[in-house]
Amino acid sequence: MIVMSSVRLAAKAWNTTAARLAVVIVMALQSPGAGWTQEPVQPRIDEEFAKQRKIYQRRGAGSYTANRGLLNYAEVLPTGFCDALGRLGSSDRWLDIGAGEGQAILDYYAPQGDAAPEKCGGSGPRARVVAISIEDRRSDKWKQQAASLGDVRIRYLSGKRLSQYIPQELGKFQIITDVYGGFTYTENLSRFIDKALSLLEIGGAVYTVLPAVHLEDGAHKLGAWYKTELVDAASRPVKVCSWLKQTTCTKISCESKTDWDEPTQLIEIRKVCSGVSVPRTNLVEYIAGAPPGRRFQLEP
Ligand SMILES: C[S@@+](CC[C@H](N)C(=O)[O-])C[C@H]1O[C@@H](n2cnc3c(N)ncnc32)[C@H](O)[C@@H]1O
Repeated sequence: MIVMSSVRLAAKAWNTTAARLAVVIVMALQSPGAGWTQEPVQPRIDEEFAKQRKIYQRRGAGSYTANRGLLNYAEVLPTGFCDALGRLGSSDRWLDIGAGEGQAILDYYAPQGDAAPEKCGGSGPRARVVAISIEDRRSDKWKQQAASLGDVRIRYLSGKRLSQYIPQELGKFQIITDVYGGFTYTENLSRFIDKALSLLEIGGAVYTVLPAVHLEDGAHKLGAWYKTELVDAASRPVKVCSWLKQTTCTKISCESKTDWDEPTQLIEIRKVCSGVSVPRTNLVEYIAGAPPGRRFQLEP
């Protein structure tokens, strides 16, 4: 079953020669009728990881969207995001994981009278913000703004993934956002959420979005394909929100966007106490892309 599903995932989502080749390799690596082992098909996955690293470094036409502003964030993040941003004080902190050019942060710090911060984040004091991105996408605009505000108000860190930071490098935050960033791209879903929650103050929240997934309130459609798929230990499909709701010390709210180009889940993860434990996921398939196709299996 997983064989069929993986082939469908690759073939429908990535209609390119490379993706077709990847499908052929997957099929060649599996004996007829055999199911997936819980380990990734390592040689091919390494190739996909290498391709993915190149995607991060691409610029221009072949690149992905990395300049969404604050109003785009307001559209794709859960409903409470803008109000939560507006409630932050000047010593509070906001972390944007997978910030790209950091345009949303520049908008947040735009001068009074600018439309974006008035509609999202209000006109009160501005929190301190940290942007992280694998590749450095700082624009000249970012550099000018950072020079005038100083490193304490807005900081941009690059060259590493979220999982590679030690806690002291980043500190703690009241709000964490991830807009088509690490959550959409990571090869280790449970480690990513665990790390994000470890950086969150109790009472704070992660606001994120996941495209092309089995929605919380969606029936499982025969033949449907998803860019992020989860299955349990017996290979039965699991919805991302159902999995997240098994995380201790969190309150999960999910909004479903069925009428967007791809079924998209908007997710708020509130940390309510310190004993967070995220049910572990293992990667069983990864196909490079923007975003990549991923299949995870929950540990029993
Ligand atoms: C498609 S861009 C989105 C940029 C921005 N959020 C926007 O909407 O315009 C993806 C961003 O996520 C970053 N990213 C992907 N995986 C990441 C990870 N594990 N840790 C940190 N950043 C990551 C990439 O480096 C890039 O900055």
